[in-house]
Amino acid sequence: MQISVIGCGYVGLVTGTCLAELGHSVLCFDSDPAKSEMLRDGRLPIYEPHLDGIFLRNRQEGRLRFAAEAAEVARYGEAIFICVGTPPLENGEADLSAIDHVARLIATEARSPKLVVEKSTVPVRTGQELKRALAVYGRNSNVSFRVASNPEFLREGSGVEDFLHPDRIVVGVEDDQTERQLREIYQPVLDGKFRCPVHESPCPPTAAPVFVVTTIASSELIKHASNSFLALKISYANALADLCERLGANVEEVTRAMGLDPRIGPHFLRAGLGFGGFCFPKDVQAFIRLSERAGMDFRLLKEVEAINNRQIDWFVEKIRRALWVIRDKQIALLGLAFKPHTDDIRFSPAVKLAEHLLAEGARVHAYDPKAMDRARAALPGACFAPDPYAAARQADALVIATEWPEFAALDWARIGQSMARPLILDGRNLLDSKAIRSLGLEYESVGRPAGNSNRLTP
Ligand code: UGA
Repeated sequence: MQISVIGCGYVGLVTGTCLAELGHSVLCFDSDPAKSEMLRDGRLPIYEPHLDGIFLRNRQEGRLRFAAEAAEVARYGEAIFICVGTPPLENGEADLSAIDHVARLIATEARSPKLVVEKSTVPVRTGQELKRALAVYGRNSNVSFRVASNPEFLREGSGVEDFLHPDRIVVGVEDDQTERQLREIYQPVLDGKFRCPVHESPCPPTAAPVFVVTTIASSELIKHASNSFLALKISYANALADLCERLGANVEEVTRAMGLDPRIGPHFLRAGLGFGGFCFPKDVQAFIRLSERAGMDFRLLKEVEAINNRQIDWFVEKIRRALWVIRDKQIALLGLAFKPHTDDIRFSPAVKLAEHLLAEGARVHAYDPKAMDRARAALPGACFAPDPYAAARQADALVIATEWPEFAALDWARIGQSMARPLILDGRNLLDSKAIRSLGLEYESVGRPAGNSNRLTP
């Protein structure tokens, strides 16, 4: 099928490239001229595991192209996927102006019937507004438009895997033709018939994805409800970590045993510095605002947000308690990305932590395997080390803020010896506390007290 993708961020690029990998002819467009030029030159503006290989191959084989002009993309696809950003406004609501622009573009430039698919995370009723906007902006043309919602559940760092091996594909539709068209687009995924770039073949056996067909409003709500529930699980684990420290229990032991109950499940119960990234913080906030607009005070989610915001203050307090005075201390910071396997630092707890430490007068020497370039602009007061060992040299403390697996494999004895004080504060519970302490390092983590805890509440 001929498909257009508008917006080449993480979602748009993974979606467009994977749709090409499924055999469709895909034309993408991004309104940022620098990004657009990079993509037309065959360079990816983001790091995402496995994306580069299929990006290059599908470009070479002619299934994946990038348009220089917006009008081209509005005319090309039988289906047009909208993958533009919906960043938070001051009041926490989602800014839908990019979607409005795209609606105007499609309505005025399209010359044949289009299925317009919202892929961006949007509040409920955006589908209705989109339909209305297409009709208003396109009132002088006789092109017909159908609208669908098809939320993405991709995680950064495993976007390609999540696209090709999803648990479910959710489509919100208003007619059978739209359902059929979306089913046709995703048929190779539903049948497991594609060349998997992630696994050595064959892929590990997984259940076939469920194709869930709903109304547009339900589909839009499923996305917000899923992200907010996952955020809730994380905040629950973080609140438990607090309690564990106060009571001398170990949060990992507690959440592991909880997760063995299939009604609870083991995922998203990792305590740490809290959730970040461009999805959870803004989606929880947008869901709270959306509920308020609908006349409901979603206090449960307000608490999810409050617990998450407290995590950084609490961890800074932990650093302060360990160091007594933060000003002028040299602190090594391992990890800047909001989670491992990505270069994304948007709403990153690691960056927030660095900002707090810099504001208190610490000298921060940071290292991240992928996110350094992006972090340089965000943290002008920090020094950036070429590797973790250089970051740790002469430091008064070392903080782990992102759980990159390679940090676990460092020579921690060597790191300890090179530090002014071998103090490790592990904000992601990455290291084995016994093993680290046995090397003679001081070690603190989240919700895993060494003995009786005397946690301070900020
Ligand atoms: C999230 C969802 O997982 C995706 O399903 C969704 O499609 C995406 O948002 C989106 O709306 O676009 P993502 O933001 O890429 O994906 O990352 P996650 O892996 O969900 O992690 C989010 C944050 O939660 C990270 O900061 C991570 O460190 C934190 N986290 C995650 C925890 O603190 N504890 C956990 O147990 C799990």
